[in-house]
Amino acid sequence: MSDPLLEVRNLHVHFDTYDGVAEVINGVNFTLNQGETAALVGETGCGKSVTMKAVMGLLPSARIPEGEILYKGENVLELSDAKLHARRGREMSMIMQDPMTSLNPVLTVGEQMIDVLKWQGKPRLSVTNWVRDRLGGSTSAEHRERAIEMLADVEISAPKRVFNSYPVELSGGMRQRILIAIALLSEPDLLIADEPGTALDVTTEAKVLDLLEELVEERDTSVLYITHDLGVAREVSDYINVMYAGEIVEQTSTAELFADPQHPYTRGMLESIPSLSTGIGDGIEGHLPDYTDPPGACRFVDRCPYAEAACHEVYPYPRETEPDHTVACHLFDGSPVAEHHHELAEERVNIGPPSWTDASETDSESDAVADGGSAQ
Ligand SMILES: Nc1ncnc2c1ncn2[C@@H]1O[C@H](COP(=O)(O)OP(=O)(O)OP(=O)(O)O)[C@@H](O)[C@H]1O
Ligand code: SF4
Ligand SMILES: [Mg+2]
Repeated sequence: MSDPLLEVRNLHVHFDTYDGVAEVINGVNFTLNQGETAALVGETGCGKSVTMKAVMGLLPSARIPEGEILYKGENVLELSDAKLHARRGREMSMIMQDPMTSLNPVLTVGEQMIDVLKWQGKPRLSVTNWVRDRLGGSTSAEHRERAIEMLADVEISAPKRVFNSYPVELSGGMRQRILIAIALLSEPDLLIADEPGTALDVTTEAKVLDLLEELVEERDTSVLYITHDLGVAREVSDYINVMYAGEIVEQTSTAELFADPQHPYTRGMLESIPSLSTGIGDGIEGHLPDYTDPPGACRFVDRCPYAEAACHEVYPYPRETEPDHTVACHLFDGSPVAEHHHELAEERVNIGPPSWTDASETDSESDAVADGGSAQ
């Protein structure tokens, strides 16, 4: 197995709000190995962007009371601003969720791309140098050529014209491609793509995802995809982390997750795949909890059809139910908290197969879960 590139360990992120402390991220753990493509999946508001902004050091208003974010073994939470800035430019890039607000409306696409090329890897942006540079108009021909080439790589058909355009003059699909081009300009080792297709129509989204996959394969970049859509995660990633209310509730390879989904939330999300057009959560009633007053134990308890009284009281720590398959639910924790849970864990039939599996898959699933239920 390749080396870990990014390891997030027991990450907690809090925000001070008028209603109290919002404990948004609550003990998140995940690893991205070198050359791997992993997804972070969960419904809107579950904490995906907050997690990734923490990785990038882009959460000035948050408190991180506990946790480590190890990038190539070094804790980014302990890096100075200057070092973090240098690392962000050269080694880590993020495609932000909203193409309009992520691009500067008063600079042309070309100016923004050239800024990336000029300043990547520099320890600190000096305003004086930036102004001097801009007034001097010292845009090198090499940078210009590289930026235009990158626009062509992301399949923008008139790259020279787009290079001189302002973001507002371009379509949503073009702006998204430009963000991808900007993120890839510095040839990062780690690319975080936050819902790179959500602002687009379905056809353009599929094209953008294909393109991104091709580009990262060519460059051997490790990618973390953030999406609310398990269908997209299945298309693009080798490994899936399912997030609910600021916690990872299930994590395993993409193939294993679809062959043997275990956490009730994952299963609810899978049920909602046929109705993608209306968004995730159709298979799961209710809402995310209030982060200023979350349930004391399992955060999914108010929406879970298998909840027992004990689920309100005993925290479901993540456990490996099979090699490289981790689930945070008392149905699968090896020592079920209630007699009823014990029965459910042993007889998957009580949980019921997801509607998209056929009968033969159901049989093998029951066996797998019965085994998993006894794992420690
Ligand atoms: N600066 C902040 N101050 C207070 N609360 C915040 C702040 N930033 C995010 N949050 C809260 O954290 C929670 C998670 O937000 P986040 O943006 O990570 O969700 P998400 O999973 O990325 O959702 P989406 O799919 O809609 O992008 C939300 O309830 C949000 O309101
Ligand atoms: S721990 Fe209990 S409430 Fe939480 S997901 Fe599992 S069964 Fe449902
Ligand atoms: Mg988000």
